[in-house]
Amino acid sequence: MLLRPNITSKCRPLRSKRGVLKVYAGGKVYADPVNKECSAFAPATVANLGPGFDWMGCAVGGGGDTVVARVIPDKPGTVIIESIQGDNGRLSLDPNKNCIGIAALETLKLIGQPTCGIALTLDKGLPLGSGLGSSAASAAAAAWAVNGIFGSPLTKSQLITAGLAAEASVSGYHADNVGPSLLGGFVLIRSCKPGHPVQLLQLPFSRDDLYFVLVNPLFEAPTAEMRAVLPKEVPMKSMINNCCQGGSLVTGILTGDVRLIGESLDSDVIIEPVRGPLIPGMMAVKEAAKAAGAFGCTISGAGPTAVAVVDNPDVAQKVLEAMSQAFRTSGKLEVNSAKVVKLDPIGAKFT
Ligand code: HSE
Repeated sequence: MLLRPNITSKCRPLRSKRGVLKVYAGGKVYADPVNKECSAFAPATVANLGPGFDWMGCAVGGGGDTVVARVIPDKPGTVIIESIQGDNGRLSLDPNKNCIGIAALETLKLIGQPTCGIALTLDKGLPLGSGLGSSAASAAAAAWAVNGIFGSPLTKSQLITAGLAAEASVSGYHADNVGPSLLGGFVLIRSCKPGHPVQLLQLPFSRDDLYFVLVNPLFEAPTAEMRAVLPKEVPMKSMINNCCQGGSLVTGILTGDVRLIGESLDSDVIIEPVRGPLIPGMMAVKEAAKAAGAFGCTISGAGPTAVAVVDNPDVAQKVLEAMSQAFRTSGKLEVNSAKVVKLDPIGAKFT
C-alpha cells in the first residue's frame, strides 16, 4: 500500500516537492518531507473527570502548547530541539529526555524511514505539573507537527502511541490526556496496555452550555508522584461506586446532561480521597464550588488544578471566585490562573 500525502495548506511546502510521500525500495519504506516547516497547537486536557481514572478525558479551551517542526535536509531520522519557551529553563533540550523529542522520534518510526531530520521548537502555554495535561499537549503538538512535515500520512488515532511513549517517560502509560489532546472532545480509553494497540472511543457531545471552571493554584503536583500514592487494591464497595458513577458520567456526556456530568465527576471515592489531602485546600475548594452553584468539582488530572462543572456563564464566574478564594484561605496558596472554558472539539491543529 502506498500512503498518499494529505497536503496541509497551513504548513510551508518545500519548493520542489518530490511528489510521492513513501517509496518502497529493498523492503524499506522511505518517507520524503513535503513541507519544510509545520506548526501545530495541542490543547489542555482534563483527565479522569472523577471516576474515569486513566480511562476518560476531554480537551478544553483556554490554552495549550505549540510546536514548530522544521526539516533538516542532511540528517535522516535525527531529531533536535532548538529552543523551548515558557518553561523557565526547566525542560531538557535532549530529545530523548523531552516529551516533544520522544513523540517526534516515535512519529518518525511510525511514518517509516525519513529522508530528513527534524528540528523542533516548543512554546509552552501550559504550566508544568498543573493537572492540565501539559506534557501530553507538548507530545500531541510535536506528533502532529512532524506528521504534517510528511503531508499527514497518519491519523490522529495512529499517533496516540507516539504521544504515549512520551507520556510514559514523564508520568506513566496513560492515554487520557494525550488521546483528547490529539483528537479533541471527550475521549474514552477503552484499552491502553504497553505492547498492545490502544483503543479509543470518541464520545459525541453537542450541547453548548457545558462550562468548566479551572482554578490552578501555585503548587506543583507531578503526575508520577501523584500516581505513586495510589492504592494497589480497592474495596469492592468503592469499585461498585466508581463503576456506577463512571457509567453515569458517560451517560451524561452521551445524553448532553450537564448536571449528570457534574454530579458524576464529583463522586469518585477511590482516587480523590487519596490525592485531595495532598493538595492544600482542595477539599474546601470542592465544597466552595458546589456551594456557589457548581454541579460538581474534582481534581483535574493528577492536580493541583481543580475543575468544576456548570451550565451557565454567570454561575461559572461565581464558582470561579469561590474556588479561588478557598485555595487562598484554606490552602494558603496563591492562584496562578482561574478560567472558565468550554470543550475543545478539535484537538491538535496546524497553526
Ligand atoms: N490519569 C492520570 C492520573 C492523568 O490521574 O494520574 C494525569 O494527568
